[in-house]
Amino acid sequence: MKKDEAFKWDNKDFVNFYTNSANAIMLERQRSIRIFLEIIAFHFPKLSGLNILDLGCGDGVITKHIHDKSPNNNFHLIDASEDMLNRAKEKLNNSNASFRHLTFEDYYELEVEKSKYDLVLSANAIHHLDLINKKTLFAHIYKELKFGGLFLNIDPVQPSSDYSEEIQFELWQNWMNERLEKNGEEVGMFDDIPYVYKNNAENKPSTLWEQPQALSQCGFKDVDCFYKYSIFSVFGGRKER
Ligand SMILES: C[S@@+](CC[C@H](N)C(=O)[O-])C[C@H]1O[C@@H](n2cnc3c(N)ncnc32)[C@H](O)[C@@H]1O
Repeated sequence: MKKDEAFKWDNKDFVNFYTNSANAIMLERQRSIRIFLEIIAFHFPKLSGLNILDLGCGDGVITKHIHDKSPNNNFHLIDASEDMLNRAKEKLNNSNASFRHLTFEDYYELEVEKSKYDLVLSANAIHHLDLINKKTLFAHIYKELKFGGLFLNIDPVQPSSDYSEEIQFELWQNWMNERLEKNGEEVGMFDDIPYVYKNNAENKPSTLWEQPQALSQCGFKDVDCFYKYSIFSVFGGRKER
């Protein structure tokens, strides 16, 4: 990994801010995770003995949910941030988990391990790649999935126009403010978040049209968007048996 890459994702301020406030700023984060888990349970009714890869795992929150439901799986976690990986290690202490300090670019440049994973998932991470790199990543994931495997992604997507973006940012702010009000916290304190996100050059969201299309082009079947609220979406597809 290049030094500046590691530095970028090991930024302590970002890691602290994100892990402390993700539930308050990622719109309906708990619902998206629930939907993720329901789709996974539908696809893998036994949810046991699977090889599961979490790309951009952060502090391991998604894998931890799966692990708590069904620990009898092999969990593989990748992230560009060592600090995040250390938090994930703490969360998943004593489980069948392996952790790799890699960027997505490092990961897809590795030799393909064909049919390695049953389930590949990612949450709020792949939007840091531009569309060309997303396509390369999706193609690598497809090759590493077993036949019958599943890829699921929770990620912000780019609105189709400025007007649509205005509407979706308003929905995002309204949701954050409702939550703040309910918790007796200062309404409006996160109103700048959609614009901070928009102006951060590390965020390279692609549209919801482009990404499922890219997945289909890689060979994924039953590609769909299973949920979307404001810019936050859940989409994916499976590799046919
Ligand atoms: C917003 S956090 C999400 C973490 C976790 N998946 C969650 O849902 O809470 C994004 C994560 O993606 C990682 N990340 C961003 N760009 C990356 C890249 N190019 N390669 C690997 N990890 C990356 C960051 O280090 C960070 O942990």
